[in-house]
Amino acid sequence: MEELKQYNDAFLKACRGEEHDHVPVWYMRQAGRYQPEYMKIREKYSLFEITHNPEVCAEVTLLPVQQLGVDAAILFADIMTPMPAMGIDVEIKSSIGPVISNPIRTIEDVQNMQQLDPQKDVPYILETIKLLRQQLNVPLIGFAGAPYTLASYLIEGGPSRNYYRTKAMMHSQPETWHLLMDRLGDMTIEYLRAQIQAGAQVVQIFDSWVGSLNAKDYATFVAPVMNKIFTALEKENAPKIMFGVGAGHLLQEWNRLPVDVIGLDWRMPIPMARQHGVKKPVQGNLDPGLLLSSWSAIEEKTKEILDEGMKTPGFIFNLGHGVYPQVKVETMQRLTAFIHEYSREKMASASL
Ligand code: CP3
Repeated sequence: MEELKQYNDAFLKACRGEEHDHVPVWYMRQAGRYQPEYMKIREKYSLFEITHNPEVCAEVTLLPVQQLGVDAAILFADIMTPMPAMGIDVEIKSSIGPVISNPIRTIEDVQNMQQLDPQKDVPYILETIKLLRQQLNVPLIGFAGAPYTLASYLIEGGPSRNYYRTKAMMHSQPETWHLLMDRLGDMTIEYLRAQIQAGAQVVQIFDSWVGSLNAKDYATFVAPVMNKIFTALEKENAPKIMFGVGAGHLLQEWNRLPVDVIGLDWRMPIPMARQHGVKKPVQGNLDPGLLLSSWSAIEEKTKEILDEGMKTPGFIFNLGHGVYPQVKVETMQRLTAFIHEYSREKMASASL
């Protein structure tokens, strides 16, 4: 008889700030181009074809859970997944990222955007979530891009270094900007609520590029919509994780948001985040670049992060950003096993 594997809820406990017998770990972009199995699937299907096909999408989502032994699965999709339904022509170009052929530049452009109806517009995402919940013995994370990061792609027309068109709209057409935040905020609420109701147990909001703003502009132009999103989702009973890159100077702002977990990139040491007033569980924050260095360097830095993170209950290990395609699967396996082993021993000896 096949042995039934016990459900591993370490990640859910950590999100709620509860102790467990080991530190849970998952990785941003844990399903992707560093995996030969993923590359094989990509020979047959584009990224959007994968996400439109629940069986294939569930298979891709499950790959890192089976291969690495991580404590959570993250739905395989992209932050741009809901955009076509809003009337945005987006293409994900390899090694570039999302490229938009009809950028948003005027108030009419924003007014013409359609609202998302998840059941009608992204049924395949909800179907994938349902399929995954039948197969997983670890929690499933749903996610969405945050309005600022989405807006930066919509306004610039693609990836950007300086976000000057985005900032120009913010400061010279504030009415257009706020309407855009409102539309994207409402979409995010509907999209995440539908994911949770389909079975996602935790949600993460990726505000990858918000670190390009100063704290005052964040407070004026972004914080209100973030507050609205997180407040609207409070009833849903699924922990909410906030993540951004290079956003250490925004921690005081994030502390005021009704989120459950703060995701840190590698620039912000955990003790420094605590000094900045972060009292909630934190998630992070190994420099993804280190995964291409020697194992001894990876181990040393991982120990340091675990020692710092484990000082308060509810620590979740992650990278400071996504896994690079050049990283070896073996490195990810060894890292995951090390985090489990080291934290298990440390917790066991602390409770003696
Ligand atoms: O984390 C996961 O495992 C879930 C899957 C996931 C993808 N994109 C799949 C993907 C998640 C959570 C995202 C979020 C995402 N997408 C973000 C926020 C996180 C971050 O990285 O900051 C952003 C900014 C995007 C936009 C985007 N999509 C970029 C910048 C790229 C990379 C372009 C490239 O080829 O370098 C994509 C494409 C993308 N999204 C890939 C994957 C696995 C690579 C697709 C491929 O070519 O197979």
